[in-house]
Amino acid sequence: MNNVAVFADQTALMVGAAERVVQLATDAIEKRGRFMWALAGGSTPRELYALLASERFVHQIDWARVHFFWGDERCVPPDHADSNYRMAREALLKVVKPPDEHVHRMRGEDDPVQAAHDYERVLREQFGTAGGSLPRFDLVLLGMGADGHTASLFPGSAPQFETRRLVMAHHVESVASWRLTLTPVTINAAAQIVFLVAGADKAGRLAQVLDQRTEGKVLPAQLIHPGRGELTWMVDTDAAARLDRGQLPAARG
Ligand code: 6PG
Repeated sequence: MNNVAVFADQTALMVGAAERVVQLATDAIEKRGRFMWALAGGSTPRELYALLASERFVHQIDWARVHFFWGDERCVPPDHADSNYRMAREALLKVVKPPDEHVHRMRGEDDPVQAAHDYERVLREQFGTAGGSLPRFDLVLLGMGADGHTASLFPGSAPQFETRRLVMAHHVESVASWRLTLTPVTINAAAQIVFLVAGADKAGRLAQVLDQRTEGKVLPAQLIHPGRGELTWMVDTDAAARLDRGQLPAARG
């Protein structure tokens, strides 16, 4: 049974997601003195980041104790319009102003294979997992594309099958660009994974992804199952429109 929270509309979804981030950050900072958060890219989370930076939420998190990571990045410079880092910097980081050493962006401007290797080293350093143990994010925030991709794990792409490396670089035909991405093994080691999905264009695919009986190829978003953690799908009613009754908790928001 998937843990699905349905919100009346996109605004209610973002408020619910902001409250969840506050709750997880507060808990992690109280217990471990820091909040290790892998951000999602794309466009949906922009509204969430802006809401967290607003007067309504900005004072509810001790931002100096938050470490920002990325679940994936486009292989472009940090000021490029496609950069996931730039999107988060403009919507959130320039307001909350975390210490520079707490912002761990994937270096999209570097050679992709080297950047993936370097980011794996950053993860091992920050999480203290020099040996075989896996970095355990307090939260990995993810989106889902209409094709069922998540982070930069695209259908049929090599990183979705990777079981050893923490971070990979690959050229994605469907978007005609190089991407950097956490691999499923890294994402699934997280304590909390939250998918943020909004809009009618995702409804069919969301129903398919949540229907674990799906025949044929497994979609990347279906590879996300935290081994020792919790997975929550936070969606609006438009995205939830095709879910069957068994998957639909009482709507909220
Ligand atoms: C990216 C994202 C990607 C995104 C999905 C959904 O770099 O594009 O990490 O995985 O989450 O494409 O994007 P939207 O939320 O904008 O639809």
